[in-house]
Amino acid sequence: MVKVEVDPRQARHLLSARPAVLVTSVGSDGKPNIIPIGWSMPTSFNPPLVAISVGVRRFSHELIEDSQEFVVNLPSKDMRDKIMVCGSCSGRRVNKFERAGLTPLKSLRVRPPRIKECVGHIECKLVDKLRTGDHTIFVGEVVASSADEEVLDESGTPSPLLAEPIYHLSGSDFGTLESKLETPKH
Ligand SMILES: Cc1cc2nc3c(=O)[nH]c(=O)nc-3n(C[C@H](O)[C@H](O)[C@H](O)COP(=O)(O)O)c2cc1C
Repeated sequence: MVKVEVDPRQARHLLSARPAVLVTSVGSDGKPNIIPIGWSMPTSFNPPLVAISVGVRRFSHELIEDSQEFVVNLPSKDMRDKIMVCGSCSGRRVNKFERAGLTPLKSLRVRPPRIKECVGHIECKLVDKLRTGDHTIFVGEVVASSADEEVLDESGTPSPLLAEPIYHLSGSDFGTLESKLETPKH
């Protein structure tokens, strides 16, 4: 096997694909915004924490810093076009719910709305933030979560095989989770 050196600025592609999520936030005027995020992760079991990495120039960066709340919404694989619409304009100028044809749904515990068309929702209150280069990692404590009944398994746990997330590869390329590998029997 020949190892070829990769430009450090391209190394992040070795960490693709990542589930695309639609993060909602809200301004002091009550207007909600949506940002597609590829860089998200759970980061603690107890308390349940979720982190998202947001570019410092994004409108959503301003809204999350100001309001201290956000909702991570999980779109399904048929929402690719809506993700691209939300990712190619700024909420400073555009109402993305209207432009993408998405429906705000009141959240259970925070002000930013859920997105009705998404299959899962994680409502977060900001507990920490870390400036990392040109992005900020916002860490949110999960204060409520909800999902479409169809994406929960028999034990009531959200299942990625049922939720059918859409994975961001790079640019405008996306993929899906094709299958679960057989668990080896020992
Ligand atoms: C699939 C996808 C994933 C993205 N991932 C991120 C991300 O992880 N962090 C980020 O800051 N921007 C990301 N972007 C870019 C923002 O979504 C985009 O700049 C958006 O228009 C910002 O909106 P806002 O200014 O209204 O907040 C992504 C875009 C797409 C389409």
